[in-house]
Amino acid sequence: MYFTEKIVWITGASSGIGEAMAYQFAAENARLIISSNNSEELEKVKTNCLKTCSQCDAIFIDLEKPESIKEAFDRVMTITPKIDVLVNNGGVSQRTLFVDTSMEIFRKIMEINLFGAVLLTKYVLPVMLKNGGGHIVATSSISGKFGFNLRSAYAASKHALHGFFESVRLENYKENIRVTIVCPGRVRTNISLNALTADGKAHGKMDDGQDGGITAESCAKQILRAIRKNKKEVLIGGKELLMVHFKRFTPFIFNRIIRKIKPT
Ligand SMILES: NC(=O)c1ccc[n+]([C@@H]2O[C@H](COP(=O)([O-])OP(=O)(O)OC[C@H]3O[C@@H](n4cnc5c(N)ncnc54)[C@H](OP(=O)(O)O)[C@@H]3O)[C@@H](O)[C@H]2O)c1
Repeated sequence: MYFTEKIVWITGASSGIGEAMAYQFAAENARLIISSNNSEELEKVKTNCLKTCSQCDAIFIDLEKPESIKEAFDRVMTITPKIDVLVNNGGVSQRTLFVDTSMEIFRKIMEINLFGAVLLTKYVLPVMLKNGGGHIVATSSISGKFGFNLRSAYAASKHALHGFFESVRLENYKENIRVTIVCPGRVRTNISLNALTADGKAHGKMDDGQDGGITAESCAKQILRAIRKNKKEVLIGGKELLMVHFKRFTPFIFNRIIRKIKPT
């Protein structure tokens, strides 16, 4: 029961991997703060969490909006002066060619996936430093390891998370700040349904790739284990993870295969 009484703040907790993580932290009686930009769904998750944990606060956050991130942080500070674990998990995917993607949509994806996590970390890190340490988690993706069709902004945002969080880890290592970067492959969640298309609307389809993925529960379980073990980086998923190893060790094979993989 590593997380018992630990104060854990998760973004993107209204659905998918974040929701599954919330239940698993709750099962260890962590003191939870769950955030997303869907208050109604968040309240449902909170009710479920409170079946197993004694404290769970639902705080609205829109990761696209800096002022909303500040407001959420200020509210959290009225609840607790300490945060043990911050899970930067909220994110949105993309299903559009770069050539058709407006800069507005590109920036929106960067704002939510990258700058949302950066700004929240900017607020939370000093709190952790003041309290003698903490653990920051970032949900990247295998799209943070290689680019893919219809994912130019998504892959850019996820690649950038690695550079940012690796630097934060190094800069604060002696201050007892730990950083775990999580790279899921395919996980069966609403991510493809909510992915943005060229006109900014949701893709609205459960893609075959997603449908064949591992469950959010299994992904969450592996993320909690990675935090407990203080892993710097963890790959989670099925056979799609092989592509990460192909790119690293046999780029020639990687480049032949990646062109043949269906983007949805
Ligand atoms: N599923 C996969 O195969 C997969 C693979 C690799 C990485 N990931 C990453 O895993 C993370 C979680 O995704 P998921 O698969 O669980 O998908 P999901 O079910 O769609 O969940 C995404 C979460 O992010 C939140 N979110 C989206 N936009 C937001 C915003 N502007 N402000 C605040 N919260 C926002 C959503 O809140 P609302 O629902 O309230 O909008 C939701 O709680 C993401 O970072 C995603 O990139 C997923």
